[in-house]
Order: sequence, then structure tokens, then C-alpha cells
Amino acid sequence: MSAMIEVAHLKKSFGAKEVLKDLSFSLQKGEIYALLGSNGAGKTTTIKILATLAHQNSGFAEVGGFDVEKNPQKVQEVISLTGQFAAVDEMLTGLENLVLIGKLRHLKEPQKIAVTLLEKFGLTAAGNQLVATYSGGMKRRLDLAMSLVGSPKIIFLDEPTTGLDPESRLQVWDFIRDLKKAQVTILLTTQYIEEAEQLADRVGILKNGALIKEGTPQDLMAEVDQGVDLSFYNMADYQQAIAILQGRTLQFFPEILRLQVITTGSAEDFAQVVVDLEKAGVTFRKFGKMENKLEDVFLKIIQEGK
Ligand SMILES: Nc1ncnc2c1ncn2[C@@H]1O[C@H](COP(=O)(O)OP(=O)(O)O)[C@@H](O)[C@H]1O
Ligand SMILES: [Mg+2]
Repeated sequence: MSAMIEVAHLKKSFGAKEVLKDLSFSLQKGEIYALLGSNGAGKTTTIKILATLAHQNSGFAEVGGFDVEKNPQKVQEVISLTGQFAAVDEMLTGLENLVLIGKLRHLKEPQKIAVTLLEKFGLTAAGNQLVATYSGGMKRRLDLAMSLVGSPKIIFLDEPTTGLDPESRLQVWDFIRDLKKAQVTILLTTQYIEEAEQLADRVGILKNGALIKEGTPQDLMAEVDQGVDLSFYNMADYQQAIAILQGRTLQFFPEILRLQVITTGSAEDFAQVVVDLEKAGVTFRKFGKMENKLEDVFLKIIQEGK
């Protein structure tokens, strides 16, 4: 099966500033791919090129099987945009905004589609109010609803939850999961590692104009240390545990009587740590698997560079 999005050796500079140096990645149909990177890494620039709103200096980019430079109109027909491009008109109502997009996309029943989308995004009651009166969360939901007009097969979500309150963020995540069920291909950019962990099939970490890492969230998380997380009741037990576990790599958190023991990641080695402590009569308040967060991987990778 051919890719829905194919990017190869993409380069983009603004004046002397090289933003994208050699960016390559691809998305299969129905895949959610999260482009992760710090502020200024070039995420929006990438999406703009794919959405035909900016031109690359060199390299290749194809969306829905169409070359963004040779066939921009065709690309525009298969995509939709949202996020930092919010095209919402504040002086129209929510309903009017949706109908307008439907008409621009030459749909047969723009009014009907608009009403359905208002309902889906919990905006029915506010449908006839000016968008200028909407909260930030409502505007973002309207923006997402607008991106769905015409049922695009490929959706770009540029930092879809930046600045949202936690409840609205969860709603947006649910909406993105629904899109995936409908086999929509989604390129998502985010600064939130947790968002990538929650939603993405694959993650690419963008730094210095290229991907410095790519894989499933699980692949990336496997790159950081595995181990046991121990908490103690008192300093005596904490100290004794350190003595017993001599020879292992430890991470110390004395102020909260917590110790992390790096293991090979196997269940046996994990159990061995606990057994060694029990044998020596060290009591501990609780133990568990060290939490591995994509965040740890991100920080490790960003710090190490390539
Ligand atoms: N139109 C532009 N002219 C000049 N510099 C730009 C322009 N757009 C983006 N940049 C610069 O390119 C870099 C990447 O920007 P951007 O793609 O918006 O990053 P991100 O979305 O990852 O935060 C930044 O340093 C930004 O200042
Ligand atoms: Mg951006």
C-alpha cells in the first residue's frame, strides 16, 4: 500500500536560517503520526509545506498521492487544516462559519452538515451566537468541527490542544480517536509528550531540522532505563537498602525516602531486587515498576542530540 503522506529530504530556510535540513517520514492510511518538537523546531513549517501554504527549497513531499508542488489543488481537496491556522471568523456565528466552509468546499447540503457537526462538538446551543462570545475551548471545538466539513481523508492537527484546559483537551483526544476509527490519516504536531503517548501510532522527534528519533511510543520508551521504584518508612531502611543493593545502579531521592534501582527490564531481575531486600529484613512501604514516560525519552534524546 502506498503512503498517504510521504516526505523525503525536505529542506526549508527562511533567509539564512535553515529550519528543515533533511526531513523524511511517511504515514500509512489510518495512521496517527505525532511530530514532536520544542518550540521553533519547525513543526508548523512542515505542516504548511504539506498543506501547500509554503514552499520547500528542496526535497519531496506528497500528500494523498499528489506532489505538493506539482499538484497543490489536488492536495487541497484531500486535506483539511486546523490548529494554529484557525480560520474561524469571529463576527459570524458558529453555524455560519460551518456553512461557509461547506459552501467553499462545494458541498450539496452545507446547512445539514453544519448542524450535525455542531451537535457532534457540543455546540448546538451556541450555534447561533457570534464566535466572538465563545470561550477558548469552544473556539477550538468549532475549529475542529470546521476541519471535518467535507470528510477529509487526511487531517493536519497543528498543536490541537495547546492552551486548552484539561477537560477540553480530553474532549479533543476523544475526537481524534474517533477520526482514527474512521480511518482518517492524521499528522499531529505537539509539544506535549503525553499527547503523543496517548494518541500516536508512531512518533517522530524533530530537532535541528531532521528527525533524530522515530518509532512507536513503546519503542521509544524502551530506550530509557527500566527498574524498580521503592519507597521506605524511615531513613534506616533506606540506608540499609542502599547497602544491600551495592553494585547496582541506583537513583537516590532521600528527601522522600525513595530509591530507584535500575534493572535489566526482565521480571526475574525485578523480583531479585525485592527478594534481596526481604531476605535482609528491610521493610519497604511500597515497590513497583519504575514509570517510564515518553517524557523521559524526549528529554534524554533532546539532551543527547543525535
Ligand atoms: N515566515 C517566516 N519567516 C521567517 N522565519 C520563520 C517563518 N516561519 C517560521 N520561521 C522560523 O522558523 C522556525 C520554525 O518555526 P515553526 O515551524 O513555526 O516552529 P514550531 O511550529 O515547531 O514551533 C522558527 O525559528 C521560526 O521563527
Ligand atoms: Mg508551531
